Amino acid sequence: MLIADSLIKVNLKTMCGIVAYIGQREAYPVILKGLKRLEYRGYDSAGVALLNNGLKVYRKKGKVAELEESLMGVDLHAHIGIGHTRWATHGEPSDRNAHPHQSNNGKLAMIHNGIIENYAQLKNELQKKGYEFKSDTDTEVLLNFIEDIQMNNHCGLEEAVRIALKRITGAYVIVLIDQDNPDTLIAARKGSPLVIGVGKGEHFLASDASPIIEYTKEVVYVNDYELAILRPDELILKNLGNEKITPFVQKLDLELAAIEKGGYEHFMLKEIFEQSDTIYDCLRGRLDAIAGKITMSGVEKYIEQLKNANRILIVACGTSWHAGLVAEYIIEELCRIPVEVEYASEFRYRNPIVHKGDVIIAISQSGETADTLVAIEKAKEQGAIIFGILNVVGSSIARTSHAGAYTHAGHEIGVASTKAFTAQLVVLTMVALKLAHDKGTIDQLRYMHLINELHEIPDKVSTILRSSEKIRLIAEKYKDARDFLYLGRGYNFPIALEGALKLKEISYIHAEGYPAAEMKHGPIALVDENLPVIFVATKDAYHEKIISNMQEIKARKGIVIAVISEGDDVITQMADDVMIVPDADEIVAPMLSVIPLQLLSYYIGLAKGLDVDKPRNLAKSVTVE
Ligand code: AGP
Repeated sequence: MLIADSLIKVNLKTMCGIVAYIGQREAYPVILKGLKRLEYRGYDSAGVALLNNGLKVYRKKGKVAELEESLMGVDLHAHIGIGHTRWATHGEPSDRNAHPHQSNNGKLAMIHNGIIENYAQLKNELQKKGYEFKSDTDTEVLLNFIEDIQMNNHCGLEEAVRIALKRITGAYVIVLIDQDNPDTLIAARKGSPLVIGVGKGEHFLASDASPIIEYTKEVVYVNDYELAILRPDELILKNLGNEKITPFVQKLDLELAAIEKGGYEHFMLKEIFEQSDTIYDCLRGRLDAIAGKITMSGVEKYIEQLKNANRILIVACGTSWHAGLVAEYIIEELCRIPVEVEYASEFRYRNPIVHKGDVIIAISQSGETADTLVAIEKAKEQGAIIFGILNVVGSSIARTSHAGAYTHAGHEIGVASTKAFTAQLVVLTMVALKLAHDKGTIDQLRYMHLINELHEIPDKVSTILRSSEKIRLIAEKYKDARDFLYLGRGYNFPIALEGALKLKEISYIHAEGYPAAEMKHGPIALVDENLPVIFVATKDAYHEKIISNMQEIKARKGIVIAVISEGDDVITQMADDVMIVPDADEIVAPMLSVIPLQLLSYYIGLAKGLDVDKPRNLAKSVTVE
């Protein structure tokens, strides 16, 4: 539980994107392009270090483009280099806190993603030895600690790094270059993601595969406590005990086009418009609507444990947590298994009661969210079975899970999760349907009906996307509102929460999601002629109830905007504006009703001139707690 324990005492610092290159190409353009691809991970400062007749380090507060701008006309020729884009949580964004950091003797440069917990004590020891620090980062402390070991032990960089890593606590990916060894890159990982791209006479390192895919599909995912020594023609992996490990080279199933904008103005819009295809990809090879069969090897492997579970715990964060909430309704309805949905950040510290054999479903797009990772590591130690619903292949949570299912939504670059969310709903619905059918808690008629409902979703999504212009006009109308309220009942309640989260993330407008009936217990006090109230009101068992909730808002001059099923004339009459989705069974309707809300938040953010792909203060995967 080392990682978990160290994170508990953590004072957070950074969460970032790292890129490195060694080979025959010009290193700088490879690194710069890679940093731009990783910028969704963090974007408050950036830097590169290059080795060419000495070490050259360049850093700049702000986005990667500002670093690029500041280096116009500089001789950046080099075949080895490291680069970093930062997301600060501790230690303000500034040139001096930006990475790479340089050691006191000026010979070593290092980039780092993670947290060195015991850095203050190390810093004290080093200051007593006369070391000076130019930044207030833990990274610079670790770097000088490595230099000090090198000097005192008269050893090479690799050994100094190994010794140092045995003395620190925390999470890290570090990559170093050394002026005295211009043909070697040293990297190590514990708790943060690291991928190595294997090329002919060259190697690439990055936080994920997106900076690598353009050059090679051969990758090695570095595991915790592993150290990599890279030369143009050599890749050596070792553990901290200095024992060699055979690298496991995997082939990436990612296409370059998947990480380009494809003619869309923003990745978020592209990813919203990809959902008909990504949901189809998610169903493909799993759902056979004619035979009425669902094939999911991960479920089959653990079918007995899953269907006989006393309860299912779902652990996740953010949008993934909302998918978990929808799954709670579906699994309890179809499988009659009690489900509890847990915020991973609370679950990991609450000392929860986990019994041997309990089933934990971990939902995560990135597969790297620290709270979710540590929460399932804790539960796994107590004998729980971890079933991962993940989008990024080979991610840390995927490797920690006993089994699971990938959502196949493709690379999601927009910080606001959209296509991964609908794919999560599709996978969770297929898992529930398969379990229910196996348990016999659903009859064949209903089973086949829901199979067909799932089968029809990709086309219904295309229909919704064709009405995007109408949604843009609604966004234009309400973009200046100060607050929004999102209301839903039953399966649509979590969609109200998700709609509110999307609007907050993208437009910085305050928005709250609530179960519609909960309104009378307080939030209705907010209602006046300036408050847009968005109802997720597709046809379901709660339809009459939600109409009366709308009347309560109208009675207080509130603005009613509703996501409705096609042909719903009653609400069309009542509402100020409607966003229409094709009719569908209430169990699959959340996959449809969320899409107008994704578009609404996108168009409001766009109308306000905001950076919808990289909203302020956010990052795509939260790799520290
Ligand atoms: C959603 O738009 C946000 N990016 C965020 O809430 C996200 O869902 C959360 O950080 C969980 O990420 P994960 O799915 O990668 O674990």
